[in-house]
Amino acid sequence: MSPPIDFSLRRRTLLAGTAAAAAFSAVNRGGAAAQSSAAPAGPETSTVTLTVNGEPRELTVDNRTTLLDALREHLKLTGTKKGCDHGQCGACTCTVNGERINSCLSLAVMHDGDEVETIEGIGQPENLDPMQAAFVEHDGFQCGYCTPGQIQSARKVIEEIRAGIPSHVTGDLTAEIAITDAEIRERMSGNICRCGAYANILAAITQVAEESV
Ligand code: FES
Ligand code: FES
Repeated sequence: MSPPIDFSLRRRTLLAGTAAAAAFSAVNRGGAAAQSSAAPAGPETSTVTLTVNGEPRELTVDNRTTLLDALREHLKLTGTKKGCDHGQCGACTCTVNGERINSCLSLAVMHDGDEVETIEGIGQPENLDPMQAAFVEHDGFQCGYCTPGQIQSARKVIEEIRAGIPSHVTGDLTAEIAITDAEIRERMSGNICRCGAYANILAAITQVAEESV
């Protein structure tokens, strides 16, 4: 018959081990806190100068601020919308130095000296841009949340096709690129419309392309 097990000894051993583990963990947490409170390598904010819709603007932003948040939160230009904030919906599309970009994917500090155009800069209710007027005429929206981004992209799509910039639809890169439904749809595919106004958006873009030949 085996000797009786000394449970009291085992319990003391266990408690001592647990206390040591807790103390070790606390020391480690203290070390991590000390590390995380260490001063960052560089400045936390930067001053950025942009030309926005033709006006020089200077703003001081946290270095992590996206161009989208700089426009919306710092400059109060809320026409540029935040949908996904992850480069997936196109609601934040604006123009930088003449090219459309997803402003949620770009830091404001990367655009010092750049020219930015937002929906507020391309037309006013009493003087709409032709693309804005075409969207109204063709009901190219329902809730309107995606519309500023759609219009910004649509204006650039026509320019891109005319400049011969290839898209995935273009098989032969030497062939002239035509303004076709497929070409427009492909180039607008980064702008999602949850209301599904795609057919009307296409009609608006096609009309502007035809009228501006
Ligand atoms: S908010 Fe920028 S792509 Fe959706
Ligand atoms: S009009 Fe509502 S998401 Fe496009």
